[in-house]
Amino acid sequence: MTDALRAPNAAPAPSAAAGVATGEPLLSISQLTKYFPIRRGLFGREAGAVRAVDGVSLQVGRGETLGIVGESGCGKTTLGRCILRLIEPTSGQIHFDGIDVRALDPASMRRLRRRMQIIFQDPFSSLNPRMTVGAIVREGLTIHKLAAGAEADNRVRQLLEEVGLRPEYASRYPHEFSGGQRQRIGIARALAVEPELIVCDEPVSALDVSVQAQVINLLQDLQRDRGLTYLFIAHDLSVVEHIATRVSVMYLGKIVELASAADVYREPVMPYTQALLSAVPVPDPAASRERIVLTGDVPSPANPPSGCVFHPRCPHPAKDAACTVIVPPLEEKAPGHVAACIKQPPTTVPWHAQQQAGATRQPERHLPLAAITHGVSP
Ligand SMILES: Nc1ncnc2c1ncn2[C@@H]1O[C@H](COP(=O)(O)OP(=O)(O)OP(=O)(O)O)[C@@H](O)[C@H]1O
Ligand code: SF4
Ligand SMILES: [Mg+2]
Repeated sequence: MTDALRAPNAAPAPSAAAGVATGEPLLSISQLTKYFPIRRGLFGREAGAVRAVDGVSLQVGRGETLGIVGESGCGKTTLGRCILRLIEPTSGQIHFDGIDVRALDPASMRRLRRRMQIIFQDPFSSLNPRMTVGAIVREGLTIHKLAAGAEADNRVRQLLEEVGLRPEYASRYPHEFSGGQRQRIGIARALAVEPELIVCDEPVSALDVSVQAQVINLLQDLQRDRGLTYLFIAHDLSVVEHIATRVSVMYLGKIVELASAADVYREPVMPYTQALLSAVPVPDPAASRERIVLTGDVPSPANPPSGCVFHPRCPHPAKDAACTVIVPPLEEKAPGHVAACIKQPPTTVPWHAQQQAGATRQPERHLPLAAITHGVSP
């Protein structure tokens, strides 16, 4: 990111309970899973499953931005699409403004989608090349019968202006625009139907660094003006730092840490988050910092490791045999700050239970200097 970014969003007061946004949640997800079946052989016999999303629970408050961060393939897009039921979840609950989203019939679901929109990662493939910009932005107005004729034309022009594009661009085609401009068209399309929640799926990853900040600033302005709620997906913690009020970190389909953005950047608990943070550029270029290099590849979600899914790559000094047996609960490590690690105290997994699972090393607090981005000593 560049210094063209404005100051980060002010962090809200930490909530009393883990993973709970302040205020009444607009979106509430409980134990959501999405398993993609793996089929083999002539008859497409089911031979296993890719656990793309594996028991995710979270809540997003109105007007909040929840960042979802993790490496490629950890399940971010699948989670976002499940929430809008663009793909059907395997199990779990989704409530939007108190509505049981999974119980809705197709017609009711289509109506609800007006209130929940998505902005896609790739602005090149997500816009129909055969439609004019005006027709793309207008489509939602027509589908949801929000405006027609001259009124719809006016709305399209207003929306283009609102996202920083000239109203006359309505008659042009997507290929005439740069990546940043196309992403603005995608944002105008999402805004057309006056949504309350927008799932932003890596909206700036495909853009030049100089353009990324402009698009993030636009999303922040729109959020302020329209009271929008964002689920903001990124693979890079430096992107969400400037927009997220809270941040959740995903690894192999699970949330492994969730806290206010300020807490995650100041004192990351889960060793995976610490490693991700060590890759974030420090604000002071004179401060040199080691990077925590994770060894080994990300395991396949079709065959996740036993116990803590992170154990084959974990650099925590107290890692031991218990980590290969015990599935770490996502538990409160500080008020409003949850993480999944039985070796970072406090933990609800008692020492005798860890010993029974083969533990030889007592839990001990581990916060490597490389993981600290804002100069707070460990
Ligand atoms: N339709 C599908 N069928 C089978 N497997 C799938 C399908 N869609 C996604 N997956 C698998 O689910 C896992 C999660 O994929 P997903 O696209 O959600 O990850 P992601 O975190 O968004 O990654 P990226 O950062 O690359 O966009 C991956 O292992 C992926 O291969
Ligand atoms: S539970 Fe063990 S393997 Fe998992 S993050 Fe903690 S120390 Fe590492
Ligand atoms: Mg994705």
